[in-house]
Amino acid sequence: MRTPIIAGNWKMNNNPEDTTNFVEAVKNQLPDSSKVEAVIAAPAVDLPALLAAAKGSNLHTAAENCYFENAGAFTGETSPLVLSQMGINYVVIGHSERRDYFHETDEDINKKAHAVFANQMTPIICCGESLETREAGQAEEWVQRQVTAALKDLSAAQVASLVIAYEPIWAIGTGKTATSDQAQEICHVIRETVKSLYDEETSDKVRIQYGGSVKPANVKELMSKPDIDGGLVGGASLQPDSFLQLVNYQD
Ligand code: 13P
Repeated sequence: MRTPIIAGNWKMNNNPEDTTNFVEAVKNQLPDSSKVEAVIAAPAVDLPALLAAAKGSNLHTAAENCYFENAGAFTGETSPLVLSQMGINYVVIGHSERRDYFHETDEDINKKAHAVFANQMTPIICCGESLETREAGQAEEWVQRQVTAALKDLSAAQVASLVIAYEPIWAIGTGKTATSDQAQEICHVIRETVKSLYDEETSDKVRIQYGGSVKPANVKELMSKPDIDGGLVGGASLQPDSFLQLVNYQD
């Protein structure tokens, strides 16, 4: 059985004080981690506050990005080694905003996945097509290609433990959610891709999230789909009440 994983991705929002206040507001109402894993991915500048406030609670922590080298002359980058030393659990990599605005390539994302594992953390690897690609009928092959490139040279055990987030770009921040059937269709393609690259055991274990205008009103329906194991949530993760409704969707 795959444990559901609901992760808030705050993007470039909130300061350390906001972070502390948010965690204080949610930390005693989170589900048991064996039932639903609740995660917040916060900006690098907020991570010390996130870790301090989340300590001893059921809240798991994520960075929104990292570099693929541990140290050196890489001005402005975040070290995966230091994230790991701080106690961060997950790192989101390959978000479409990073691919589009910061020109991250499939090769960069694969190197980051290796670096995250080398530092005993778990990657949440994002993929997803643009509206143009979807309308051209190429969403499936686009996502297959992104997933194949991101997983290059990872072991079956590594892939079984990681998280893949399917985030159609046309549904991010637009209020336009993919229908649960559209989301399920591509999440199934992702699981089949993992199966063809590895084996059935690995594809049964890998957790796949849907992201793109997930909110309390649609989370249950999305989570009812067989290949959707979680959500990666932007806007609706910024308010404690809304985040709590998302992670407690089973209640
Ligand atoms: P929204 O939930 O705001 O559409 O953002 C989705 C997303 O990009 C999460 O990573």
